[in-house]
Amino acid sequence: MFFDKLSKLLNDVFKPKPKYITVTPVSSAEPTQMLPPSKLPRHVAIIMDGNGRWAQKRGMPRSAGHAAGTEALREIIRASDDWGIEALSLYAFSTENWSRSKEEVGALMGLLLKYFTSEIDELDAKHVKITILGDVDGMPQPQREALINAMARTKANTGLKLNIALNYGGRAELVRAAKALARKAKNGELDPEAIDEAMFAGELYTAGLPDVDLLIRTSGELRTSNFLPWQLVYAEMVFDDCYWPEFDRTHYLKCLRAYAERDRRFGGAEATEPAKAEEAPVQHEPAAAEKPAREEPTEDVEEPVVSAEDAEEA
Ligand code: FPP
Repeated sequence: MFFDKLSKLLNDVFKPKPKYITVTPVSSAEPTQMLPPSKLPRHVAIIMDGNGRWAQKRGMPRSAGHAAGTEALREIIRASDDWGIEALSLYAFSTENWSRSKEEVGALMGLLLKYFTSEIDELDAKHVKITILGDVDGMPQPQREALINAMARTKANTGLKLNIALNYGGRAELVRAAKALARKAKNGELDPEAIDEAMFAGELYTAGLPDVDLLIRTSGELRTSNFLPWQLVYAEMVFDDCYWPEFDRTHYLKCLRAYAERDRRFGGAEATEPAKAEEAPVQHEPAAAEKPAREEPTEDVEEPVVSAEDAEEA
């Protein structure tokens, strides 16, 4: 057991870093997508939209769309891990989603339970650290237990930080943070004048994580729907028209390439290096020490964004 863990850890640390992240398309008409790892965002957030429409278009129940969406989610988590994304936050169930039909909510809860019991071994073996963003106490008991177990088991992992938003609402998260600070002020632990942005961020579910660099939303909808309102303030947004079950590595890499070509200024007038992740602010975590970030690739620092054709020509 110990040697298994040690060998996995060594394997991870010494895993050769690819010069480019590539996805070979199924059809030869499409170019191979390539991107140097140095251009990746640190924190990607995804609104996985369009499961219902995907199913309805096929004459299937909405729950079939969520089942297909779970397959897409599995693959995108694997891709994020393979490509060295530091943090991935997925919007899986909002506080508003309880208003859907009993059948649909039941199907989603079933998928959640199945996912967290069947995938936990693989995720843990890959050193993925699971955090649930949202009110876990408000989840049904079997799901709550599976979620608490997944978080506890992977708490010390140092790989991909996988955040799944469940029973989550962005405004509710802000109110919860305000209440936590007010409570401390009332108890005399805190001077209200000392409250600053870092302290506020330290009370959010995402305490200790960098702000979101890239928000992806599928299905062609152009809104943020109460997802991570604090953390998204400087996020680049990329919208993909496909329904979530159709979102695969090729779509994902296209979004990452679009991000890599953006010019991020964080409110300043001067153009900065596009997609320079080190400049993104890190959210303050009050109690625990800052976890060491996943090892950054040392090569490729100034590599351009290219397609396979560009690379061949060069
Ligand atoms: C939005 O599409 C999607 C959801 C509300 C659920 C997302 C859930 C999953 C992808 C699977 C379950 C999650 C885990 C972690 C196993 P929609 O149903 O609103 O689509 P529509 O806009 O076409 O109706």
